[in-house]
Amino acid sequence: MKGIVLAGGTGSRLAPMTLAVSKHLLPVADKPMIYYPLTTLMSAGVTDILVISTPADLPQYRRLLGDGAQLGLRIGYAEQPRPEGIAQALLIGAEHIGGDTVALALGDNVFAGPGLPDILRSNAADVSGCVLFGAQADDPRRYGIGVADADGRLVHIEEKPARPRSSQAITGLYFYDNDVVDIARRLEPSGRGELEITDVNRVYVRRHRARLVNLGEEFLWRDAGTPDSLRDTGRRILSLEKDLGSRVACVEEVALRLGLIDARTCHRLGAAQANSGYGEYVMAVARGVGEGSPETSAGASR
Ligand code: G1P
Repeated sequence: MKGIVLAGGTGSRLAPMTLAVSKHLLPVADKPMIYYPLTTLMSAGVTDILVISTPADLPQYRRLLGDGAQLGLRIGYAEQPRPEGIAQALLIGAEHIGGDTVALALGDNVFAGPGLPDILRSNAADVSGCVLFGAQADDPRRYGIGVADADGRLVHIEEKPARPRSSQAITGLYFYDNDVVDIARRLEPSGRGELEITDVNRVYVRRHRARLVNLGEEFLWRDAGTPDSLRDTGRRILSLEKDLGSRVACVEEVALRLGLIDARTCHRLGAAQANSGYGEYVMAVARGVGEGSPETSAGASR
Protein backbone atom coordinates (compact mmCIF):
# COMPACT_ATOMS: atom_id res chain seq x y z
CA MET A 1 0.00 0.00 0.00
CA LYS A 2 1.26 3.46 -0.92
CA GLY A 3 0.78 6.50 1.29
CA ILE A 4 -0.03 10.14 0.60
CA VAL A 5 0.06 12.98 3.11
CA LEU A 6 -1.77 16.05 1.87
CA ALA A 7 -0.10 19.06 3.46
CA GLY A 8 -1.19 21.74 1.01
CA GLY A 9 -3.55 24.65 1.33
CA THR A 10 -3.12 28.13 2.65
CA GLY A 11 -4.03 27.46 6.28
CA SER A 12 -6.09 30.65 6.18
CA ARG A 13 -8.12 29.64 9.24
CA LEU A 14 -4.90 29.76 11.24
CA ALA A 15 -3.67 33.18 10.11
CA PRO A 16 -1.45 34.91 11.15
CA MET A 17 0.35 31.74 12.32
CA THR A 18 0.35 30.49 8.74
CA LEU A 19 1.38 33.69 6.97
CA ALA A 20 5.01 32.56 6.90
CA VAL A 21 4.83 28.93 8.08
CA SER A 22 2.98 26.02 6.48
CA LYS A 23 0.07 24.84 8.63
CA HIS A 24 1.35 21.29 8.86
CA LEU A 25 4.66 22.43 10.31
CA LEU A 26 3.01 24.21 13.24
CA PRO A 27 3.59 22.51 16.57
CA VAL A 28 1.06 20.11 18.04
CA ALA A 29 2.34 19.45 21.56
CA ASP A 30 6.10 19.36 20.93
CA LYS A 31 6.40 18.23 17.34
CA PRO A 32 5.47 19.40 13.85
CA MET A 33 1.89 18.59 12.92
CA ILE A 34 2.93 16.43 9.96
CA TYR A 35 4.55 13.90 12.33
CA TYR A 36 1.03 12.78 13.28
CA PRO A 37 -0.28 11.78 9.83
CA LEU A 38 3.16 10.41 8.99
CA THR A 39 3.18 8.07 11.98
CA THR A 40 -0.46 7.18 11.32
CA LEU A 41 0.59 5.88 7.90
CA MET A 42 3.66 4.16 9.32
CA SER A 43 1.50 2.42 11.92
CA ALA A 44 -0.70 1.16 9.09
CA GLY A 45 2.43 -0.47 7.64
CA VAL A 46 2.96 2.12 4.90
CA THR A 47 6.56 3.10 4.18
CA ASP A 48 6.42 4.56 0.66
CA ILE A 49 4.92 8.00 1.14
CA LEU A 50 4.29 11.02 -1.07
CA VAL A 51 4.07 14.40 0.66
CA ILE A 52 2.00 16.90 -1.30
CA SER A 53 2.28 20.60 -0.54
CA THR A 54 2.52 24.02 -2.17
CA PRO A 55 5.59 24.89 -4.26
CA ALA A 56 6.54 27.51 -1.63
CA ASP A 57 6.29 25.11 1.32
CA LEU A 58 7.75 21.91 -0.14
CA PRO A 59 11.41 22.88 0.53
CA GLN A 60 10.65 23.02 4.26
CA TYR A 61 9.15 19.54 4.24
CA ARG A 62 12.19 18.27 2.37
CA ARG A 63 14.39 19.90 5.01
CA LEU A 64 12.44 18.24 7.81
CA LEU A 65 11.99 14.77 6.34
CA GLY A 66 14.54 14.40 3.52
CA ASP A 67 14.09 11.26 1.46
CA GLY A 68 12.90 9.42 4.56
CA ALA A 69 15.82 6.94 4.50
CA GLN A 70 16.93 7.99 8.01
CA LEU A 71 13.60 6.59 9.24
CA GLY A 72 13.62 3.54 6.99
CA LEU A 73 11.01 5.20 4.78
CA ARG A 74 10.82 6.32 1.20
CA ILE A 75 9.46 9.85 1.06
CA GLY A 76 8.80 11.67 -2.18
CA TYR A 77 7.33 15.09 -2.84
CA ALA A 78 4.84 16.60 -5.25
CA GLU A 79 3.42 20.06 -5.75
CA GLN A 80 -0.18 21.13 -5.42
CA PRO A 81 0.07 24.59 -6.99
CA ARG A 82 -3.45 25.60 -5.91
CA PRO A 83 -5.67 23.99 -3.32
CA GLU A 84 -8.38 22.51 -5.56
CA GLY A 85 -9.77 19.90 -3.25
CA ILE A 86 -8.58 16.89 -1.28
CA ALA A 87 -9.35 14.49 -4.13
CA GLN A 88 -6.83 16.35 -6.29
CA ALA A 89 -4.17 14.59 -4.20
CA LEU A 90 -5.21 11.33 -5.85
CA LEU A 91 -4.56 12.79 -9.30
CA ILE A 92 -1.27 14.39 -8.28
CA GLY A 93 -0.32 11.08 -6.65
CA ALA A 94 -1.59 8.81 -9.47
CA GLU A 95 1.89 7.85 -10.64
CA HIS A 96 3.02 7.22 -7.07
CA ILE A 97 -0.01 4.98 -6.45
CA GLY A 98 0.66 3.00 -9.65
CA GLY A 99 -1.29 -0.25 -9.49
CA ASP A 100 -1.33 -0.37 -5.69
CA THR A 101 -3.83 0.42 -2.95
CA VAL A 102 -3.41 3.78 -1.21
CA ALA A 103 -3.82 5.40 2.18
CA LEU A 104 -4.49 9.13 2.01
CA ALA A 105 -3.93 11.07 5.22
CA LEU A 106 -4.84 14.73 5.69
CA GLY A 107 -1.93 16.63 7.15
CA ASP A 108 -3.95 18.19 9.96
CA ASN A 109 -5.65 15.04 11.24
CA VAL A 110 -4.31 13.70 14.51
CA PHE A 111 -5.07 10.16 15.65
CA ALA A 112 -3.83 8.59 18.86
CA GLY A 113 -4.54 5.78 21.24
CA PRO A 114 -3.13 2.39 22.12
CA GLY A 115 -4.52 -0.27 19.84
CA LEU A 116 -4.76 2.10 16.88
CA PRO A 117 -1.87 0.47 14.95
CA ASP A 118 -3.67 -2.90 15.12
CA ILE A 119 -6.86 -1.42 13.70
CA LEU A 120 -4.99 0.41 10.96
CA ARG A 121 -2.87 -2.57 10.01
CA SER A 122 -5.74 -5.03 9.83
CA ASN A 123 -7.76 -2.67 7.66
CA ALA A 124 -4.83 -1.81 5.42
CA ALA A 125 -4.03 -5.46 4.78
CA ASP A 126 -6.92 -6.14 2.48
CA VAL A 127 -8.54 -3.06 0.98
CA SER A 128 -11.25 -3.77 -1.50
CA GLY A 129 -13.38 -0.73 -2.17
CA CYS A 130 -12.68 1.93 0.42
CA VAL A 131 -12.26 1.97 4.17
CA LEU A 132 -13.13 5.14 6.05
CA PHE A 133 -12.71 5.82 9.73
CA GLY A 134 -15.52 7.40 11.70
CA ALA A 135 -15.37 9.27 14.99
CA GLN A 136 -17.89 11.15 17.10
CA ALA A 137 -17.84 14.86 16.30
CA ASP A 138 -18.94 17.63 18.63
CA ASP A 139 -20.04 19.71 15.67
CA PRO A 140 -20.85 17.36 12.77
CA ARG A 141 -21.64 20.30 10.49
CA ARG A 142 -17.89 20.90 10.19
CA TYR A 143 -17.12 17.50 8.67
CA GLY A 144 -18.02 14.82 6.19
CA ILE A 145 -20.69 12.76 7.91
CA GLY A 146 -21.49 9.08 7.37
CA VAL A 147 -24.28 6.66 8.18
CA ALA A 148 -23.44 2.94 8.23
CA ASP A 149 -25.61 -0.17 8.44
CA ALA A 150 -25.22 -2.84 11.12
CA ASP A 151 -22.42 -4.52 9.13
CA GLY A 152 -20.36 -1.34 8.96
CA ARG A 153 -21.25 -0.74 5.33
CA LEU A 154 -21.54 2.95 4.59
CA VAL A 155 -24.98 3.71 3.19
CA HIS A 156 -24.97 7.51 3.22
CA ILE A 157 -22.34 10.22 3.19
CA GLU A 158 -22.55 14.00 2.99
CA GLU A 159 -20.14 16.89 3.30
CA LYS A 160 -20.68 19.49 6.03
CA PRO A 161 -24.47 19.11 6.10
CA ALA A 162 -26.58 21.86 7.61
CA ARG A 163 -28.74 19.14 9.20
CA PRO A 164 -26.49 16.14 9.83
CA ARG A 165 -28.14 12.70 9.84
CA SER A 166 -25.52 11.41 12.26
CA SER A 167 -22.75 12.72 14.45
CA GLN A 168 -20.28 10.25 12.96
CA ALA A 169 -17.57 12.33 11.29
CA ILE A 170 -15.58 10.84 8.45
CA THR A 171 -12.02 11.46 9.56
CA GLY A 172 -9.15 12.48 7.30
CA LEU A 173 -7.72 9.02 6.71
CA TYR A 174 -8.89 7.14 3.65
CA PHE A 175 -7.89 3.68 2.43
CA TYR A 176 -8.69 2.96 -1.20
CA ASP A 177 -8.28 0.17 -3.69
CA ASN A 178 -6.76 1.03 -7.06
CA ASP A 179 -10.12 2.00 -8.59
CA VAL A 180 -9.74 5.33 -6.82
CA VAL A 181 -7.43 6.74 -9.47
CA ASP A 182 -10.05 6.20 -12.14
CA ILE A 183 -12.79 7.54 -9.90
CA ALA A 184 -10.78 10.69 -9.18
CA ARG A 185 -10.08 11.18 -12.90
CA ARG A 186 -13.79 11.19 -13.69
CA LEU A 187 -14.73 13.53 -10.88
CA GLU A 188 -16.42 16.86 -11.64
CA PRO A 189 -15.51 19.87 -9.49
CA SER A 190 -18.12 20.76 -6.88
CA GLY A 191 -19.93 24.10 -6.63
CA ARG A 192 -16.84 25.36 -4.75
CA GLY A 193 -14.75 24.46 -7.79
CA GLU A 194 -12.99 21.68 -5.85
CA LEU A 195 -12.52 17.96 -6.29
CA GLU A 196 -14.27 16.78 -3.14
CA ILE A 197 -13.14 13.66 -1.34
CA THR A 198 -16.73 13.08 -0.27
CA ASP A 199 -17.68 12.76 -3.95
CA VAL A 200 -15.02 10.06 -4.36
CA ASN A 201 -16.37 8.26 -1.32
CA ARG A 202 -19.93 8.60 -2.60
CA VAL A 203 -18.99 6.59 -5.70
CA TYR A 204 -17.84 3.76 -3.44
CA VAL A 205 -21.04 4.07 -1.37
CA ARG A 206 -23.11 3.75 -4.55
CA ARG A 207 -21.16 0.66 -5.51
CA HIS A 208 -21.75 -0.77 -2.00
CA ARG A 209 -18.01 -0.92 -1.56
CA ALA A 210 -17.44 1.58 1.27
CA ARG A 211 -16.77 0.41 4.80
CA LEU A 212 -16.87 2.60 7.87
CA VAL A 213 -14.67 1.60 10.79
CA ASN A 214 -15.91 3.27 13.90
CA LEU A 215 -13.09 4.53 16.09
CA GLY A 216 -14.47 4.24 19.58
CA GLU A 217 -14.26 6.73 22.40
CA GLU A 218 -10.95 5.24 23.49
CA PHE A 219 -9.22 6.88 20.54
CA LEU A 220 -8.31 10.50 20.17
CA TRP A 221 -9.13 12.09 16.85
CA ARG A 222 -8.81 15.79 16.12
CA ASP A 223 -8.70 17.98 13.04
CA ALA A 224 -6.17 20.59 14.14
CA GLY A 225 -7.10 23.09 11.44
CA THR A 226 -8.49 25.95 13.55
CA PRO A 227 -6.88 27.95 16.38
CA ASP A 228 -9.17 26.37 19.00
CA SER A 229 -8.70 22.83 17.78
CA LEU A 230 -4.95 23.33 17.36
CA ARG A 231 -4.67 24.39 21.00
CA ASP A 232 -7.05 21.71 22.22
CA THR A 233 -5.30 18.97 20.23
CA GLY A 234 -1.93 19.96 21.70
CA ARG A 235 -3.34 19.88 25.20
CA ARG A 236 -5.03 16.51 24.67
CA ILE A 237 -1.82 15.01 23.27
CA LEU A 238 0.25 16.27 26.20
CA SER A 239 -2.20 14.84 28.69
CA LEU A 240 -2.36 11.50 26.83
CA GLU A 241 1.44 11.35 26.72
CA LYS A 242 1.53 11.93 30.46
CA ASP A 243 -0.97 9.12 31.07
CA LEU A 244 0.85 6.73 28.74
CA GLY A 245 4.32 7.68 29.94
CA SER A 246 5.43 7.82 26.30
CA ARG A 247 5.23 10.21 23.39
CA VAL A 248 2.65 10.09 20.61
CA ALA A 249 3.78 10.44 16.98
CA CYS A 250 7.49 10.30 17.73
CA VAL A 251 8.65 9.35 14.24
CA GLU A 252 11.98 7.93 15.41
CA GLU A 253 10.36 5.74 18.06
CA VAL A 254 7.69 4.47 15.67
CA ALA A 255 10.38 3.64 13.07
CA LEU A 256 12.39 1.81 15.73
CA ARG A 257 9.45 -0.19 17.06
CA LEU A 258 8.43 -1.16 13.53
CA GLY A 259 11.95 -2.43 12.89
CA LEU A 260 12.55 0.16 10.16
CA ILE A 261 15.69 1.46 11.91
CA ASP A 262 17.99 -0.01 14.51
CA ALA A 263 18.64 1.31 18.02
CA ARG A 264 21.93 2.90 17.04
CA THR A 265 20.33 4.91 14.25
CA CYS A 266 17.52 5.94 16.58
CA HIS A 267 20.04 7.10 19.17
CA ARG A 268 21.90 9.11 16.56
CA LEU A 269 18.68 10.81 15.46
CA GLY A 270 17.94 11.67 19.09
CA ALA A 271 21.48 12.94 19.71
CA ALA A 272 21.08 15.40 16.83
CA GLN A 273 18.22 16.96 18.84
CA ALA A 274 19.76 16.42 22.27
CA ASN A 275 19.07 19.95 23.45
CA SER A 276 15.35 19.29 23.57
CA GLY A 277 13.23 17.05 25.76
CA TYR A 278 12.10 15.34 22.58
CA GLY A 279 15.68 14.50 21.58
CA GLU A 280 16.41 13.18 25.06
CA TYR A 281 13.31 11.02 24.82
CA VAL A 282 14.40 9.56 21.47
CA MET A 283 17.82 8.70 22.91
CA ALA A 284 16.23 7.11 25.98
CA VAL A 285 13.93 5.01 23.80
CA ALA A 286 16.92 3.87 21.73
CA ARG A 287 18.86 2.96 24.88
CA GLY A 288 15.88 1.01 26.23
CA VAL A 289 15.61 -1.00 23.05
CA GLY A 290 19.39 -1.28 22.69
CA GLU A 291 19.54 -3.04 26.04
CA GLY A 292 16.57 -4.68 24.60
CA SER A 293 13.82 -7.12 24.81
CA PRO A 294 14.17 -9.99 22.33
CA GLU A 295 11.17 -8.64 20.44
CA THR A 296 12.57 -5.20 19.76
CA SER A 297 16.16 -6.23 19.22
CA ALA A 298 14.96 -8.69 16.58
CA GLY A 299 13.24 -5.79 14.85
CA ALA A 300 16.30 -3.61 15.24
CA SER A 301 18.57 -6.08 13.46
CA ARG A 302 16.51 -5.94 10.29
C1 G1P B 1 -12.10 17.62 5.22
C2 G1P B 1 -13.11 16.73 4.50
C3 G1P B 1 -14.17 16.26 5.49
C4 G1P B 1 -13.51 15.57 6.67
C5 G1P B 1 -12.46 16.49 7.31
C6 G1P B 1 -11.66 15.73 8.38
O1 G1P B 1 -12.72 18.83 5.58
O2 G1P B 1 -13.69 17.43 3.44
O3 G1P B 1 -15.05 15.36 4.85
O4 G1P B 1 -14.49 15.21 7.62
O5 G1P B 1 -11.54 16.97 6.33
O6 G1P B 1 -10.77 16.57 9.02
P1 G1P B 1 -11.84 20.18 5.80
O7 G1P B 1 -11.18 20.04 7.13
O8 G1P B 1 -10.87 20.23 4.68
O9 G1P B 1 -12.84 21.29 5.78
